[in-house]
Amino acid sequence: MPERNYVIDKLISAKSIAARIEALSHEIEAEFADTKKLVVVGLLRGSFVFIADLVRELDLPVEVDFVETSSYGDRMQSSREVRILKDLRGDIEGRDVLVVEDIVDTGYTLAHVLHLLASRQPRKLRTIALLDKPSRRETDIRADWIGFEIPDEFVVGYGIDFAQRNRNLPYIGKVRFTD
Ligand code: PRP
Ligand code: MN
Ligand code: MG
Repeated sequence: MPERNYVIDKLISAKSIAARIEALSHEIEAEFADTKKLVVVGLLRGSFVFIADLVRELDLPVEVDFVETSSYGDRMQSSREVRILKDLRGDIEGRDVLVVEDIVDTGYTLAHVLHLLASRQPRKLRTIALLDKPSRRETDIRADWIGFEIPDEFVVGYGIDFAQRNRNLPYIGKVRFTD
């Protein structure tokens, strides 16, 4: 794809994200109150900022693990083909697991990972997504907890990239093309 010119308009501030994560952390603590250890699984790369902030709000015994998936690469459209580039380090059979995703768009990524992890028979498997774009869904999936429902905009920041850039923005912005 040729380079296009764009600006980023702020959609969700860092402060709003922090407040929402704090509220959600209490719901997760209640759901997993009886856990011996919660395995929090981040989907790389997009969820690295969200999982870092979320686990620091969780007052639970936590283990952190990662799965790396790739669907979009540098494109703006889902390939609908989710590749597992890196699997979990740990065994999750009989364990409590929380999958952490930055955004659910078509839903192919989360559906694929959930199917894979469910086959390993965890005791409890739940999902959280910071952002949900329900208007774009092509699969029958919804995260158990959602930070913010957003309209069909191309978003970046707080871990989310556009052609691998802008992951380091501390807020969620939307891309506006200027050409
Ligand atoms: C993005 C995003 C989600 C997924 C959502 O990941 O981080 O994981 O796409 O889209 P979907 O619901 O349509 O599957 P991407 O494949 O770009 O990899 P990245 O996390 O490394 O950026
Ligand atoms: Mn991702
Ligand atoms: Mg991406």
